[in-house]
Amino acid sequence: MATSPPTTALPTTLQLPSDIGIGNVTIGGYIACVMAKYTLHYARHHPKMQHQVDLRSAVVQFYRPVFPTKSMTMTLREVSIGKGWSTLRVESFQGDKLTTSGDLVVTNFSNEGVTLQTGWRPSPEPKPIDLTKLETDSHPDWISYHCAFYPDGFQRGHSYAKAFIPRTPRREATFVEQWIEPGWDCHPQGSLTNEMIQFIVEMPLPVQEDLFPPIEGKPSTGSIAATLEFAEALEEDGSKALKARVVNVSLTLSTEIKQRLPSEGVRWLYLRNECKRILNGRMDMEVLLFDEKMDLIAISHQTAFLIPPASKIQKL
Ligand SMILES: *[C@@H]1O[C@H](CO)[C@@H](O)[C@H](O)[C@H]1NC(C)=O
Ligand SMILES: *[C@@H]1O[C@H](CO)[C@@H](O)[C@H](O)[C@H]1NC(C)=O
Repeated sequence: MATSPPTTALPTTLQLPSDIGIGNVTIGGYIACVMAKYTLHYARHHPKMQHQVDLRSAVVQFYRPVFPTKSMTMTLREVSIGKGWSTLRVESFQGDKLTTSGDLVVTNFSNEGVTLQTGWRPSPEPKPIDLTKLETDSHPDWISYHCAFYPDGFQRGHSYAKAFIPRTPRREATFVEQWIEPGWDCHPQGSLTNEMIQFIVEMPLPVQEDLFPPIEGKPSTGSIAATLEFAEALEEDGSKALKARVVNVSLTLSTEIKQRLPSEGVRWLYLRNECKRILNGRMDMEVLLFDEKMDLIAISHQTAFLIPPASKIQKL
């Protein structure tokens, strides 16, 4: 049976900002956001997809690091166009090298369908919080950690979000919890929007650092214990030269978005990330993202490979 050739969009080429990076590599979650923006733009101008204005899911694979020093070209192919949702495949290249690909599903979250209360809640439940106390950084239980921005710093991308972590981490917890607000230079209105979800879920504090034993009584730099020390002492926080034991190379980032945040964005999101297993360098992570009413906004799964930090500075 003859099939019609796949419809493709004209490739688009862009220059990535070097500020949203870690070492000399662009943050993967940011690349995923750029791919989503391109996809939604394509859908909006397509007669059969113009109502599908929401990104419902994105499964993104990273094949090689993306460098902001080179331009990035994206191509798009229609995989399946449907009435309820459509799937588009985006590929990103630098030079002739494929760096990233993603299958992105667009839909309209206002389309009606079966709605049931599942009664599911994250366990253990997040403790109620007075967000006005976070705004003034005067909460007795939560302390802010905002990675300082240096144009030549290592963790530049992390400055774009500010995190609050519990002063006393829960003893039994296998997860890291944080409240996130926009950080440095985030958005004109300084708010968190759907466009940024893949970026937000990909850059929480690295849980794996907590699992290393302390060296000479000192916790590993990226760990929550060390972050608490930085937050309290306001000392050199690793944003300029990373001293963590490992950095991860993202392999896959799969994000399922549940609902539309208000278009003007929100100030606060609550995030929980949990690592299930790290074996021979391979790590998995599950991230849950909630709004301030503890409504589920997104679920994300990531796999990464852990390597010593120096290799992220060299051209891999
Ligand atoms: C999304 O769907 C709702 C309900 O069907 C509709 O009112 C709205 O216009 C749609 N959005 C767009 C941008 O078409
Ligand atoms: C990868 O490392 C970055 C930077 O330390 C961190 O924010 C992110 O959570 C890590 N990703 C995974 C999957 O651990």
